Formats: sequence, structure tokens, C-alpha cells
Amino acid sequence: MKGKAGLVTGAGSGIGRAAAIEFARQGAAVAVLDIDETAAAETVEMIEKNGGAAVAVLVDIADERSVRSAVERTVAAYGGLHFAVNNAGMASHHRKLDEMTLDEFERVVRVNLTGTFLCLKYELPLLAGGGAIVNVASNGGLYAIPSAPAYVAAKHGIVGLTKVAAVDYAAKGIRVNAVCPGPTRTPGFDQVAVGTDLIAMQEASTPLGRMATAEEAAAAAVWLCSDAASYVTGIALSVDGGRRA
Ligand SMILES: NC(=O)c1ccc[n+]([C@@H]2O[C@H](COP(=O)([O-])OP(=O)(O)OC[C@H]3O[C@@H](n4cnc5c(N)ncnc54)[C@H](O)[C@@H]3O)[C@@H](O)[C@H]2O)c1
Repeated sequence: MKGKAGLVTGAGSGIGRAAAIEFARQGAAVAVLDIDETAAAETVEMIEKNGGAAVAVLVDIADERSVRSAVERTVAAYGGLHFAVNNAGMASHHRKLDEMTLDEFERVVRVNLTGTFLCLKYELPLLAGGGAIVNVASNGGLYAIPSAPAYVAAKHGIVGLTKVAAVDYAAKGIRVNAVCPGPTRTPGFDQVAVGTDLIAMQEASTPLGRMATAEEAAAAAVWLCSDAASYVTGIALSVDGGRRA
């Protein structure tokens, strides 16, 4: 990734942070986008400590003006955009459809699906030919997670957006893929799991017998953005320890 520049949303924690660190380790300059400025600054500090190049950029992916300005700031900082990982999202579980308010449904779709749409909308015109985008969906973008209607609907939507963008922008030499992690140990996951036996349940129902690390999920996104994946576009890649099988 030497000589390349790009951005990762939600890079203040979990999978996004791990992806930003890995891009930088491979020699890319990375804009660390997050709604949490302190968390983004921490990621930048981790990257700089290892000799990498990064800049923190505040963004709320659910807000159009904020997304446009964050993408423009990335391009201004590094003079171009070669890759983007649209990873920021929010969880929403433990609620059956009829128990969910319209407000909650719309909020989850707004952040996860509309947020990804907005990122794509402003990244695609600025992306260099040969560039690549990865949207972080979920195994919940491929099949049901019980009691997670809004999250699953939004993540299926992200897989759909990914396929259309891949087809529409292929002629410009731009690749667009999705990564669909299974249960992954991150601060975000741990928050959802608090007070439940969710972690043990996930381990028991995963053929590899454990949850993914943030680094394992991030590695797939970094690979899909790299030239090593130059003929791969429009896919939704499961990183799930064999669950889908
Ligand atoms: N951890 C899992 O088990 C798992 C599984 C499948 C998919 N995913 C997906 O992976 C992505 C990352 O998840 P994670 O577990 O690393 O989460 P995390 O909660 O650890 O990190 C998410 C980051 O996104 C940021 N963020 C949240 N809302 C934002 C917004 N509106 N604008 C900008 N930044 C925002 C947060 O501040 C945080 O730094 C999410 O899209 C999630 O749905 C996670």
C-alpha cells in the first residue's frame, strides 16, 4: 500500500482501528474518521508511534455535510484517494420487529445504510482509477440474526449498494466490495454482550470455536483494497470462522 492514501470510517475503535493500523503498517497514509474525536486521535497516536502517517478527521456518517467535508479533508491532506473502508456502524439487537419503534428502526438504518450510501456518494467521484472501496456489512447482511430486524435490513442493504456500485463504477477501474464479519471481539461487541452469555454462545456456534479478532476482520478489508485483489469486485466476503458454511 506504499504511496497510497485513503480513509477508514469508525477508525476510533474495533475493526476500523485495526484496519487503519494495518493500512499504515503497509505504508499507506490513512485518514482516521470517527464521530468520537478522542478515539480517532488515539488511533492516530498508535499509528504515528509506529512511524506511520495518519490524520484524525471528525465525521458523523449519518450527516451529509459532515461526510462531504470529511472526504474532502482527506483528499486535501493527502492529495488523492486510493481506498476507503466504510466501516462505521451501530448495533441494534434484542428486539423483535413489533417491539421496535419507528424512530429506532430509522436511526439504525440511517447510520448503517444511509451512512454508507453517503460515504460512497462522496468517495466515488474522488477515488483514483484503480482505487477500491470496502463496505463493512455483517453476516447479518447475508442471513437473519434473530431479534435484529433493523440491523439485518440495513446490512442487507449495504450488500446491495456494494453490488450496484461495483457494477456501475467498474468501467472507471474502481472496485467495490463488502466484508461480512461474523461475531468479532471489539469494544462495540463487548458492549452488546455485557450481562449476557453471548460470547460463549457465539464461540459454541462457530466451527473454528472462537470469535474473530478485530485484526482478522480488518485484514480482509485491507486485502480487498490492495492490488492483490485486483480482479475481485462486487463480492460480500464472509469472515466468520465457518459459520456460513
Ligand atoms: N464486532 C462484531 O461482531 C461485528 C460483526 C459484524 C459486523 N460488524 C460491523 O463492523 C463495523 C465495526 O464494528 P466494531 O465492532 O468494530 O464497532 P465499535 O463499536 O468497536 O467501533 C465503531 C466505531 O464507529 C464509530 N461510529 C459510530 N457511529 C458513527 C457515526 N455516525 N459516524 C462516524 N463514526 C461512528 C464509533 O465511535 C466507533 O469508534 C460496524 O459496521 C459493525 O456493524 C461488527
